[in-house]
Amino acid sequence: MNKKVIGIIIAVVVILVAIIGVIYLVNNDSLNKEGSNDTSKTLGTTITTTEENEEENTNANLSTEKSNKILIAYFSRPDENYNVGNVEVGNTEIMAGFIKDYFGDKADTFKIDPVKAYPTNYKECTEVATEELNSNARPEFKGNVDISNYDTIFIGYPIWWGDVPMIINTFLEKYDFSGKTIIPFNTHEGSGNAGTFNSIKNKMKSSNVNTNGLAIQGKTARQESSRSTVENWLKGLGL
Ligand SMILES: Cc1cc2nc3c(=O)[nH]c(=O)nc-3n(C[C@H](O)[C@H](O)[C@H](O)COP(=O)(O)O)c2cc1C
Repeated sequence: MNKKVIGIIIAVVVILVAIIGVIYLVNNDSLNKEGSNDTSKTLGTTITTTEENEEENTNANLSTEKSNKILIAYFSRPDENYNVGNVEVGNTEIMAGFIKDYFGDKADTFKIDPVKAYPTNYKECTEVATEELNSNARPEFKGNVDISNYDTIFIGYPIWWGDVPMIINTFLEKYDFSGKTIIPFNTHEGSGNAGTFNSIKNKMKSSNVNTNGLAIQGKTARQESSRSTVENWLKGLGL
């Protein structure tokens, strides 16, 4: 009989211990879950507490990353040119280099390189440029660039006959620039931007064209002192 009572007591104790154990485990688990929620809240003050916000913020982060990525696309012709003689690197390319140096890894460059090279002789080049202008030509360029990777696109060119070289029109018409910010810059030998900042704005209606571009005389662009001119201009753009 005593043995029977002892057996019942042992059984009750075992059951009680088991119940307490289960309660402990369940509580501990829910504590852990709460803890991990707290962590995600702490880590994610900007991430979120709701799925909807999470999505919004993810998109915001993506678009921030995108807008940090800048493209510097430019056309520039080396060889014999007005006022500078025979040069290995064109004036606009030097200006593009100052912009690239300023942004470093935040910016990529794309040289708009004509499939059919322009004559190395200055006078011959002006004749080809005249023909292209009169025929409203769209000279092809080599290679390709994925514009969708960029939100801000600098476009550089020399003034040719008071306008952009026709190959710039080829470039602007080839890709979808809608919603993108376009910032023009150019070199010249007296015409300034020749109204091209406004004409690009009129042409690119679905883009945000910043008409506070920069025009530098070609010969001056070749001087190291132009680097600070370019840097001050870029600082003013607030990018
Ligand atoms: C075909 C041609 C036409 C040009 N027309 C003009 C012009 O209308 N106004 C001007 O100020 N400079 C004109 N220039 C001078 C260039 O704009 C200047 O030399 C520029 O810095 C060249 O840049 P690049 O070396 O990057 O090609 C012309 C040059 C060429 C080759």
